[in-house]
Amino acid sequence: MSPKIALITGGGDCPGINAFLASAVRRGNSEYNAEFIGVKNAFAGLAADDPEQYLLPLKTEDVIGLENRSSTILESSRFNPFTGENIAKGYPQKILDNLDRLGVDGILGTGGNDTILCAGNFEKMGFPTVMAPKSIDNDVSGTDVMLGFRTAIYFGAQAARSTADSARAHRRISVVEVMGRQAGWLALEIGVASGACLITIPERPVDLAEYCAEVKRIYRKHSCANLVVAEGTSISYYDPVIVRARKESDVVRALLEEAPELDAFGNPKLGGISQILRRVLKIELGLEKIEEVRSTDLGFTLRGLAPLADDIILGIRFGIKATDIILGENRSGTMVGINGLEINDVPYEQALKPKTVNRPDKELEALGVFISSAYRNSGQ
Ligand code: F6P
Repeated sequence: MSPKIALITGGGDCPGINAFLASAVRRGNSEYNAEFIGVKNAFAGLAADDPEQYLLPLKTEDVIGLENRSSTILESSRFNPFTGENIAKGYPQKILDNLDRLGVDGILGTGGNDTILCAGNFEKMGFPTVMAPKSIDNDVSGTDVMLGFRTAIYFGAQAARSTADSARAHRRISVVEVMGRQAGWLALEIGVASGACLITIPERPVDLAEYCAEVKRIYRKHSCANLVVAEGTSISYYDPVIVRARKESDVVRALLEEAPELDAFGNPKLGGISQILRRVLKIELGLEKIEEVRSTDLGFTLRGLAPLADDIILGIRFGIKATDIILGENRSGTMVGINGLEINDVPYEQALKPKTVNRPDKELEALGVFISSAYRNSGQ
């Protein structure tokens, strides 16, 4: 009997996922005579009362040209079957029962930290899973890059360069915000590639008085300033500059009072720091009009992009490797990755070690990263 594999795509969508799906189906059909069913909405689809409603059977002829398509044809969700509440409701076992009912022998999927963690839990329960890393955040270990990162950098840099050129023409300060959660890779690379004057990343907490003084110096000298900020940039709620901004600006007060909502995996829903900085800079630099500082949130514009060749090739290589592992080598519990030029794989525990920006201060400063003196002096 031919083996049956379920394909899932969990967490935030990004470029390159469809290339992985197309490649896995092609490889599995031709080399292993395997059958593939896509399951929409990842673990939410698998946990449904009627999982059949979420299925998308996929054969080689169905995936022609799929490599080039943006996002994921299987849609996605951040449903976590392993929250205390969902364990109590029996979701992990329900998913295993549904997989059994559908006759599925193993799962191949794309995911970031959270989806890989869930795949690992099912593996521990005895169900074979192999994952490929995807996220524009590039924050998973065991691989140099995750699917989606390269495309996000390319277009993010173009967009940030565009705001920089416009800011120069209008003698303004431009604040560009990018995603990345607790990792500064996206901000760092988009900032460097777009020629940002200052980049802030979550790994280097920001003292706002020093930051504003530096922006003021740049603005005075060049009559424009191009700032790239990571959504997860760490600023204290009690920073005196924030305290002042809360008093002087209703918008800052409202934005800060919006309690950060958590997703099903406990990640804070970030976003909005550029709006706060815009007002902070107006106040601290004593600018006449708020229009002198413009903010742009690249946010989701980098998630739904059509993949560049780099991500198509990576998706195809990941798809071949993941399929060979689960169907050819009969192995599982592992994440494929690229290290140098080689495609290999690492156990989930290794992949799940956080990968944040770990370059020395000197190197980061030379690239334009803002580092507060208190942080530098703390010797970290
Ligand atoms: O994990 C990828 C990511 O793009 C993060 O950078 C961002 O904080 C998050 O997703 C937002 O995701 P969503 O709103 O889709 O849950």
